[in-house]
Amino acid sequence: MVQVKFILSCWYLIFKVWVTLCTPDQDFSKNEYVRFFETFKDVIGNKFLRPVKNWTTPVQLNITLALYEIIGVDEKAHILQTYIWLRQFWVIEFLVWDPADFDGLNKVSIPVDNIWHPDLYVYEFIEEDLSPQIPYMYVISSGRITHDKPLRIVSSCNLNIFYFPFDIQTCTLSLGPFLHTASDIVLGLHQTSEEITSESKENIQNKGEWELLNIDAKTTIWQMQGEDWSKVIFKLRMKRRPLLYLVNLVIPSAFLMVIDLISFYLPVHQIDRGAFKMTLLLGYTVVLLIMNDLLPNNAGGTPIIGIYFSVCLALMVISLLETIFISNILHQTRSNSHKVPTFLKRITFSFIAKLICFSPPESHHEPAFKNPQSDPSEELVSSPAAQSSQLIQNLLTSLSRDILVIRSHLDYRSLHEHKQEEWIRIAFIWDCFLFRLYLLLLVVFFVILISCWCMWYNA
Ligand SMILES: *[C@@H]1O[C@H](CO)[C@@H](O)[C@H](O)[C@H]1NC(C)=O
Ligand SMILES: *[C@@H]1O[C@H](CO)[C@@H](O)[C@H](O)[C@H]1NC(C)=O
Repeated sequence: MVQVKFILSCWYLIFKVWVTLCTPDQDFSKNEYVRFFETFKDVIGNKFLRPVKNWTTPVQLNITLALYEIIGVDEKAHILQTYIWLRQFWVIEFLVWDPADFDGLNKVSIPVDNIWHPDLYVYEFIEEDLSPQIPYMYVISSGRITHDKPLRIVSSCNLNIFYFPFDIQTCTLSLGPFLHTASDIVLGLHQTSEEITSESKENIQNKGEWELLNIDAKTTIWQMQGEDWSKVIFKLRMKRRPLLYLVNLVIPSAFLMVIDLISFYLPVHQIDRGAFKMTLLLGYTVVLLIMNDLLPNNAGGTPIIGIYFSVCLALMVISLLETIFISNILHQTRSNSHKVPTFLKRITFSFIAKLICFSPPESHHEPAFKNPQSDPSEELVSSPAAQSSQLIQNLLTSLSRDILVIRSHLDYRSLHEHKQEEWIRIAFIWDCFLFRLYLLLLVVFFVILISCWCMWYNA
């Protein structure tokens, strides 16, 4: 029994050894990758070794980037957020092989962390890079490494918001090794600026607020403390799509301005135009409150659009003041004391009326102060009965006195009405004049503003 058990376990052992020795190991040792990594195990796995045979030669590192998205621009903090793909190429001089030796194996992916790689760094970084780490990179038989990685870059950028929202911004991304000087790593460009631009334009999916104009790339040498650092500067030029701001800010305030303009046609002596304008001004303040959130305001200066809003507000205040002035003139008609001062009359009728081509209406209906003192007594004398004539005369006298009183009252009324009419006419002329002045001011302002924006946009 014991013998049988022993023989069985012996067979089992032999079988086990045969299985473990023969099947998997044979396949594994045949694998070209295994042979490859066996051959280059001194190079792959030595991450301290700068990959040049002669230590005096620098590593030639060629880079390029493709912009995938402009995530956002923070005007207040002067921050640009972009998402890019960075491609790096360099040669490991120790990792050169003949593909024929490895059954045609020409391209191998190797772990990034196991091998020397340049400490490339974005100079404008102001926040840690949170993009995912890509653990592998490719090496081809000539020893050339291709290392692609995505980068979410939060970088500082000096923004000029003067022409907001019609602005074009230029932001730079400077890439270079953080530690290695130009004697260790020399940077080069893998693609020309045009290629980078066209590739980036194809890649950008998001039709957001910013439109990429072009990317300009160049290599430079940066000097500090007697040492040289090689670096590549990418200049991103981008243009804002202004529609959002036009719809939310410029157009509502333009509408309010138009209403303000048209409110000049409200008859000021019948309707309280001042109250209407005051309401408009309140409405405008609400627009300004909304605008405060959307408008970039920083120490770099006020954008033209801010000036636009201030001027719009100022114009509204001016138009309110004008209405107050006209209302004051019209008030003179109610307080029935003053006559129109001569200088005002002269200025108004001989100067302003001509300026605005105002022709006064002809019907002056001057009251006829003729005082027709035609003797009523003549007819009375010829009356037959003296007493009755005396009576009639008395009656007539008192009647005529009454009529005189009424007449004088009417005369007074008509004089007053004339005065009133004159005031109204003066108010009307001034209103007309100031309205045109206001219109002129408005047109000049808008022409300046629009030409300013257009000039920048075409530049
Ligand atoms: C390394 O390169 C320098 C200059 O290129 C040369 O003078 C030097 O002899 C080289 N050293 C070796 C060991 O080849
Ligand atoms: C880098 O660019 C230079 C010049 O453009 C070129 O001679 C070199 O072969 C490139 N190196 C790599 C690794 O692509």
